[in-house]
Amino acid sequence: MTKTKLSIKLGQLISSLSLALDISENRYFGHSRRTAYIAYSIAVEMGLSEKEIIDIYYGALIHDIGMAGQMAEYTVKEIHFDNKLKKEHCELGGDIVSKLPLDREVIKYITYHHEEWNGDGVFGLKKDEIPLPAQIIHISDYFELFFLRKLEKSEGNPDIDTIKKWLDSSRDKNFKGELCDVLLSIMEKEKFWLDLKFKNIRQVLDLIEPGKNTCINMYGLKKISEAFSIIIDSKSPFTYRHSQGISNLTRKFAIYLGYSPRMIEKLEIAANLHDLGKLTVPNDILEKPGKLTKDEFRIIKSHPYYTKLILKQVEGLEDIAEWAGNHHEKLNGKGYPEKLNYETLTREDQIIALADIYQALTEDRPYRKGMEANRAIDIMLNMADNHYISKELLLDFKQLVFSM
Ligand SMILES: [Fe+2]
Ligand SMILES: [Fe+2]
Ligand SMILES: [Fe+2]
Repeated sequence: MTKTKLSIKLGQLISSLSLALDISENRYFGHSRRTAYIAYSIAVEMGLSEKEIIDIYYGALIHDIGMAGQMAEYTVKEIHFDNKLKKEHCELGGDIVSKLPLDREVIKYITYHHEEWNGDGVFGLKKDEIPLPAQIIHISDYFELFFLRKLEKSEGNPDIDTIKKWLDSSRDKNFKGELCDVLLSIMEKEKFWLDLKFKNIRQVLDLIEPGKNTCINMYGLKKISEAFSIIIDSKSPFTYRHSQGISNLTRKFAIYLGYSPRMIEKLEIAANLHDLGKLTVPNDILEKPGKLTKDEFRIIKSHPYYTKLILKQVEGLEDIAEWAGNHHEKLNGKGYPEKLNYETLTREDQIIALADIYQALTEDRPYRKGMEANRAIDIMLNMADNHYISKELLLDFKQLVFSM
């Protein structure tokens, strides 16, 4: 256990979480990252201030955050061509961002990222009523969506003529003329296209990342983890309180076990994020009422792998990533996805795992009602007898549950 002060780089955290948004179902990989690069390039070309560049970059990385949870069943295209869905993901996105430790202005950038220059957008803002960063994210978003996706498939050269025609027809209608000109001038640079190549973009973002050294403290990290737990839970009506429930249980259990305030917070953060990888699992599998096929089960079982993969990208989150990613491992080695066992699983891993099992048993699912506490603990005692979970820890947990 380290005692050094927690300081997490905000940029690393946001970009790793944007990865979770990008690997959500129906998304195509890297949309957020490339949109962020394009928006950043426009902002730099326009000579905007460092603060504006930072906000635009992070705003673009999470511009579609409103799509990840309850809107997960729609494709990006469906959402971007239907006015009702467009409005919904903008509002949801603004709402989620209001819970993150980002500048309040960023809420507007996310909420208005689909406004059209001529006032035809979903909120009817027009011209300079639309915050400039929202306009920049808007043009970058559509440019990415319309042209780079094709490029990914062909690995070929960009069709500059078609892009120019598109910009001509969108000028003063969808986008401010000045922004079209800026984009046209950036497109002249070979570097722009090389940076956007799928194999380069990640390293490029590492290099350019504005506000690299902005750190957040435990409070900020907790806020972000809470916002993401809401996104994760809202993905399915059957899990709408799941992560939050586990987080509450974990907090109570950690207090009961006498952990330090700092460890209690870290455990809570791990609990909030334990199912982060579920953002990658399609809803029709998550919500399937009947028995899952072998393939469907394999896909569901990949979620703790993604939880760990995403969180491990962030320096300083190593132990939280472990506790969160190990919640389906079992002491007897029969869990997943790493087949860890009692030799390597820590007490903290098991705290999250116990809270998860108990919460899952006691909450309603599509195929059954939630169980009473007594019955859930009985099932868990049986699991402990078969060496799936720690008996010692479970007895403490039982004490806690019956004292609640
Ligand atoms: Fe969008
Ligand atoms: Fe988008
Ligand atoms: Fe899980």
